[in-house]
Amino acid sequence: MNIIELEKINKEYYTKDGSFTALKDITFCIQEGECVILRGISGSGKTTLLSILAGLDRPTSGKITVDGEDIAKLPDIHLSHFRGHHIGMVFQHYNLLEHLSVTENIITPLIPMKITPQEAYKRAKEKMEIANISHKADMDTNRLSGGEKQRVAIARALIADPKIILCDEPTANLDRANAKRFTDIIKKLIDIGKTVVIATHDPLFWESDLDIRIIDIEDAKIVADSKVEV
Ligand SMILES: Nc1ncnc2c1ncn2[C@@H]1O[C@H](COP(=O)(O)OP(=O)(O)OP(=O)(O)O)[C@@H](O)[C@H]1O
Ligand SMILES: [Mg+2]
Repeated sequence: MNIIELEKINKEYYTKDGSFTALKDITFCIQEGECVILRGISGSGKTTLLSILAGLDRPTSGKITVDGEDIAKLPDIHLSHFRGHHIGMVFQHYNLLEHLSVTENIITPLIPMKITPQEAYKRAKEKMEIANISHKADMDTNRLSGGEKQRVAIARALIADPKIILCDEPTANLDRANAKRFTDIIKKLIDIGKTVVIATHDPLFWESDLDIRIIDIEDAKIVADSKVEV
């Protein structure tokens, strides 16, 4: 089943120097449970594409369906609700609240939802186990190492049980040992049925033992799409 469908997605940015095409005629589908790498050099359009998949930005034209919902047409208020329940995002700089504890950071996405504190803490425990960060549950996040901060960001992305996890340059700020641990967590997520999309140019992913599909982006366009099986 296709969980994500993009049809002729275009994104133009309008600046004082004129318009700039960041995505051109992007068409592809992602099946539920796939691990997809968006690969391309700096400026090729990876973050723009992830933002559109996440519903954080809207395409200039084209159709995007995520889990059966035509998200380009959803009004902002419904879009943020949709995102909260369907999408988990791991940002390059993690975007954690530094003076809150690991557990507090992880449960923040649940605040707008009608979930009891008991249930929120139970879920946080579960997600911390998946992300291997349970041993730091009560520590303030400003004391954590880069790899640990990222694992908090992963647990937070999982807290509302979204089907889709999007990661932007997840290993850019990690040493190799932590980057490898990240790919191990991604493997766990695929094993529990999540759909994962990662924007990266880190060879670690295509040299790892993950079953991945690589979509190559160059100058705002898809130039290749291939499956790498191990
Ligand atoms: N808000 C904006 N206004 C104008 N141009 C933008 C805007 N956001 C991105 N761009 C341009 O769109 C292009 C694609 O940017 P994007 O951030 O998607 O690239 P990227 O592939 O993620 O690069 P990197 O690997 O450096 O993160 C770049 O040339 C960028 O300058
Ligand atoms: Mg980027």
